[in-house]
Amino acid sequence: MPRNFSSVGVVGLGAMGAGIAEVFARNGVGVVGVERDSEQLARGRRHLEQSTGRAVARGRMSPDQQSELVGRITFTTSMAELADCGLVVEAVVERLDLKRQIFAELDHLVRADAVLATNTSSLSVTEIAAATTTPARVVGLHFFNPAPVQALCEVIRTILVAPDVVEDVVGLVRRLGKSPVVAGDRAGFIANALLFGYLNRAVSLYEAHHATREDIDAAMQLGCGYPMGPLTLLDLVGLDTAHEILRTMYRQSRNRLHAPSPALGQMVAAGLLGRKTGRGFYTYAAPDSPQVVGDDETPPSADRPARARQVGTVGLIGTGSAAAGIAGALGARDVEVIHVGTGRAEELSRADLVLDAGADDPAAKRAAFEVLDARCPDAILATTGSLVPVVECAAATGRPEDVVGMHFAHGDPDGPLVEVVSTVVTSAMAADTVRSLCARLGKHAVSCGDRAGFLVDALLFPYLNDAVRMLETGYATADDIDTAMTLGCRLPAGPFEVLDSLGNDVALGVQRALYAQNPEPGLAPAPLLGQLVTADRLGRSTGRGFREHGR
Ligand SMILES: NC(=O)c1ccc[n+]([C@@H]2O[C@H](COP(=O)([O-])OP(=O)(O)OC[C@H]3O[C@@H](n4cnc5c(N)ncnc54)[C@H](O)[C@@H]3O)[C@@H](O)[C@H]2O)c1
Repeated sequence: MPRNFSSVGVVGLGAMGAGIAEVFARNGVGVVGVERDSEQLARGRRHLEQSTGRAVARGRMSPDQQSELVGRITFTTSMAELADCGLVVEAVVERLDLKRQIFAELDHLVRADAVLATNTSSLSVTEIAAATTTPARVVGLHFFNPAPVQALCEVIRTILVAPDVVEDVVGLVRRLGKSPVVAGDRAGFIANALLFGYLNRAVSLYEAHHATREDIDAAMQLGCGYPMGPLTLLDLVGLDTAHEILRTMYRQSRNRLHAPSPALGQMVAAGLLGRKTGRGFYTYAAPDSPQVVGDDETPPSADRPARARQVGTVGLIGTGSAAAGIAGALGARDVEVIHVGTGRAEELSRADLVLDAGADDPAAKRAAFEVLDARCPDAILATTGSLVPVVECAAATGRPEDVVGMHFAHGDPDGPLVEVVSTVVTSAMAADTVRSLCARLGKHAVSCGDRAGFLVDALLFPYLNDAVRMLETGYATADDIDTAMTLGCRLPAGPFEVLDSLGNDVALGVQRALYAQNPEPGLAPAPLLGQLVTADRLGRSTGRGFREHGR
């Protein structure tokens, strides 16, 4: 008989515990909420009343429903009152010793058929379970913040837990109107393991001065449709929390890409924890304020038009659909375009800027830039490619300072984002000229250095590769991983949906380039990606990838 969990306990009524208690009470479940002292208990109750009060103010709940909901919760400082609960969810601070102590106490307190769950984000559920005499009834139940709003719930299955316990908890999560995904006990589980690796890489790019914080954030918002940039998200999550999660992940995986970026550790040591302390990557009007104050690190190019050269005519090389799209975008903004295929560079001699959207391979690029250098001596020379370093194009000319990258994110000229790539020798004038052309096209330009993947690909593809690695180890299914990332991190699409749409061949190509430049084992392309490409399972383009698609 499945357990029906008509009464549950919640230990710790902080940010998470109060939200979890609300979720149960909203669904008609009686809750015993325990705090360590009366002051914290009052705080927990206030938190709950404020949260449900907001639902009343928005018309989502009547005052009667609110008092009924709060009435379902018994507030107490006595653990003994948990004795009759069929499930107890622990949500105290993230300290292993404290959690183990609480579980050892609960073990003797609750009925023999009761289930014990921990909401830990980064500790080992197995280590917590091992503090009890009955680890078969201990699971992880990882809610996301704010619990009443977030639809995802990760159910963590240790090697010790009984299958019926996991089944019953999954059933309960569904009854609460949430989407459960089941995963084993690994640091970060599904969502955080993939998310925090990505966030850590964003900090490393920032630390290496590859781009400004605003440009890193804009790249992921506009280039991938993420609701928030990685550095803004880190400020929201709290840099101390992020540091701790990454440390745990690194201890377990020994993947150097999980080792918290030194900048993160320094900021935590300096008390710059993000929004909650009023300063992290950004500075806020006050602690807990969402309002960013202080100077933008990226002065808009409109502020310094003197450095940008006037562009009346753009020369465009390329026969593919991207070149046609770029020609259309330029024409729509009344920019005169001389569009040639390959090999007619003499027609471009009066262009102020030439954009090479031709073949993205080293030999073709070098040949094209040698010719352009000779035929268009006064023009700024730009490449739209992403696979050949911009500096290789520059080295083929006698004036590398005039060579710059103008990369439309995902090679899509209709998208909102352009990466303006400066090599070590690109002049400010050349980069500003491209930025001001972007402004004329109505595109958002972000500036970055000439490293593999520029900004968007350097952050997106290693995360996708990590997801493939997670899948190939059998830790979670593609469906569960996609659900975890869309519901838990509010990404517009899960990694396997993205891979099937961008193409596994594209992902493999970018990942190889990233790995060639930085041969970290964690960046090596996942073997499964290579196998899928060999088997022509490229994604939507071939009708089959991680999933089947109608052609
Ligand atoms: N904050 C998040 O975004 C988030 C998301 C998912 C999971 N979690 C996890 O949830 C847990 C709680 O996190 P939080 O952000 O709510 O922390 P918090 O600091 O807001 O709340 C913890 C609460 O536990 C109480 N507490 C401490 N010792 C206690 C004891 N012995 N008995 C009863 N209550 C006790 C504290 O008084 C406090 O109110 C952690 O394990 C954390 O990793 C947090």
